[in-house]
Amino acid sequence: MLANAFVTNPLHLSAFGAGRMDQSRLFFRIGLRHMFIGQAYIALVDGAVGGYVHFNAAPDCLPLPEEIPLAAATVLKPLGEAIPNIIRWFSRWCHLDPAEPHVHLGPIGVDPRRQRQGIGSALMARYIEHLDQEKAAGYLETDLPENVEFYKKFGFVVKHEEEIIGTPTWTMWRPSGG
Ligand SMILES: CC(C)(COP(=O)(O)OP(=O)(O)OC[C@H]1O[C@@H](n2cnc3c(N)ncnc32)[C@H](O)[C@@H]1OP(=O)(O)O)[C@@H](O)C(=O)NCCC(=O)NCCS
Repeated sequence: MLANAFVTNPLHLSAFGAGRMDQSRLFFRIGLRHMFIGQAYIALVDGAVGGYVHFNAAPDCLPLPEEIPLAAATVLKPLGEAIPNIIRWFSRWCHLDPAEPHVHLGPIGVDPRRQRQGIGSALMARYIEHLDQEKAAGYLETDLPENVEFYKKFGFVVKHEEEIIGTPTWTMWRPSGG
């Protein structure tokens, strides 16, 4: 489901090439197994997974930049020729990760057949509820201008904009207390 949701996103296109469902699927399989520690929720639609959200508190949200090459040589190894781009991509995200305490969002994805039906907003509401309960700040990265608008609806503001592996990306921040 996550691979379906993300396969046409610009960072996936840059890292894996067009239509590389195999690579996107492998990327999320590795992520689900090794990287997405923290809280995760799924949206069930007629008994099937229609959406997924994951969030995790800093400082355990991303590896340290110096840990990326080891990850590339071990858990990410099956991704083969995409590894140099993945190293460039995640090294930047790790460097940009704020030093201030925060709860990091990502990934969030909705089955393409189910998008624009409120599922993403429902998953975001669960995350925002957690931020408010914990009086925590929120942080995320994205690679689509329409997603920037989506996140603004939940109180996020753009913190930084940068081209990574040839695609514009944005980091966004939501102060504690919204
Ligand atoms: C981003 C995503 C999670 C949003 O989930 P969703 O279920 O489609 O979102 P919702 O139906 O709750 O949308 C709520 C509002 O956000 C805005 N929005 C969401 N997706 C949008 C899009 N692709 N283009 C323009 N506006 C969009 C709209 O204002 C929408 O309200 P509307 O449909 O009444 O106009 C989903 O589109 C997705 O999985 N995208 C691909 C993967 C991805 O980019 N994930 C986020 C990575 S940072």
